[in-house]
Amino acid sequence: MKENLSISLKNAASFISYEEVIALAQQSVRHLESINAGTGAGSDFLGWLSLPDDVIQQFDRIEKTAKHLRSVSDTTVVIGIGGSYLGAKAVIEALSHSFTSLQKTKHHEILFAGQNICEDYMSDLLEILEGRNYSIVVISKSGTTTEPAIAFRILKDHLERKVGKVQAADRIIAITDSSKGALKTLADINGYETFVIPDNIGGRYSVLTPVGLLPVAISGLDIKSLVKGAQAMEGITRKNHNASSNPSLVYAAARNLLLQGGRSVEILVGFTSRLHYISEWWKQLYGESEGKEGKGIFPASVDFTTDLHSLGQYIQEGQRILFETIISVRNPKKKITIPQEKDDSDQLNYLAGKRLSEVNHNAETGTILAHNDGNVPVIKIEIPELDEFYTGQLIYFFELACAVSGYILDVNPFDQPGVEAYKKNMFALLNKPGFEEAGKKLKERLK
Ligand code: PA5
Repeated sequence: MKENLSISLKNAASFISYEEVIALAQQSVRHLESINAGTGAGSDFLGWLSLPDDVIQQFDRIEKTAKHLRSVSDTTVVIGIGGSYLGAKAVIEALSHSFTSLQKTKHHEILFAGQNICEDYMSDLLEILEGRNYSIVVISKSGTTTEPAIAFRILKDHLERKVGKVQAADRIIAITDSSKGALKTLADINGYETFVIPDNIGGRYSVLTPVGLLPVAISGLDIKSLVKGAQAMEGITRKNHNASSNPSLVYAAARNLLLQGGRSVEILVGFTSRLHYISEWWKQLYGESEGKEGKGIFPASVDFTTDLHSLGQYIQEGQRILFETIISVRNPKKKITIPQEKDDSDQLNYLAGKRLSEVNHNAETGTILAHNDGNVPVIKIEIPELDEFYTGQLIYFFELACAVSGYILDVNPFDQPGVEAYKKNMFALLNKPGFEEAGKKLKERLK
């Protein structure tokens, strides 16, 4: 039997006592009950809770579609933004070769679009796609989000000119709402294969639906193992009312106690570059779920040891408003040993024969102790290795903890009303029909 993700508060103990964390975690069982019973704020968006079990029936179609795209093309462009982008990007980056695109062995390339409106990015992408035989997976729950909609218009036009309308339709997959939105209309008109994002799952909780699973399957990773990991985590958290053995409750309680003690910024730390986009996914999950009504912990992230040489100084000695949550990966997948050198002119022979991971682990331990000395509490989440199974565990662990944490803060963790503000202004400034009056007012302000 595989062991599970674990959480340690040892390096936060001089800021929050284990007893008070467990007491708050135990009190938070009522939030867990309310999440399971669907009686709290945002209860229309709880479909992700049972996803690890529910999505299994879609495996065959997801894998069949992935196989089809891999057989007709060498590249897939995944179009989406926010929750329709970060989950797939996070899992693929965490589990793929660090230099996939430079590998000599044959592989299917996954590229992303629609996560920005940057003209140079799109031009560069089109330039690359000229020489590629590509497919498109376009993802938008609402089917109306501007960034992916623009990207899809451009890339659909490009693909249709390249391979013809019929071929293009065979290699465009749409993942969207079951009945509404412009993307659904486009898919129906053009006969694209579609997958549905269930009504009761918000974007940032959708990585274990086809939104995340199809791109991950196309990249060649094992979605069954990813979901198995999430299932295992569901098993030890969702209905576990014994707070001390429920890592999601412990994490939610610890971070809220740290907030109550003035720690309003949480930095998610990884000591492997592979975790970079897991942090980006986590930032959206916690930022959109908690940052409302003037509340919430600001989610930030760093990649160590890289960022110890940029942000390390601030963390060590800047304003004491921070705490860190480290995702500690015990074993790397690969092995490299530092060589012995005869004349030792770089004075590194004291490391000769050691693995890079041993140096990295000592950097991790040294950093935790230094940051503790600098008055920074550290929560540690440990997984034995970074594979599909433990990535699935991390996903479910963080999602459930986020929902509980939102309820501890007394906010609705499943809405994101603030995201609309920039959109309204952008539409008004671009003279979108219906936004004329707002446009006039904004242009006055800009004079
Ligand atoms: O979490 C969310 O709801 C958002 O980040 C959305 O995922 C994002 O805005 C994209 O929305 P859509 O999938 O409707 O295009």
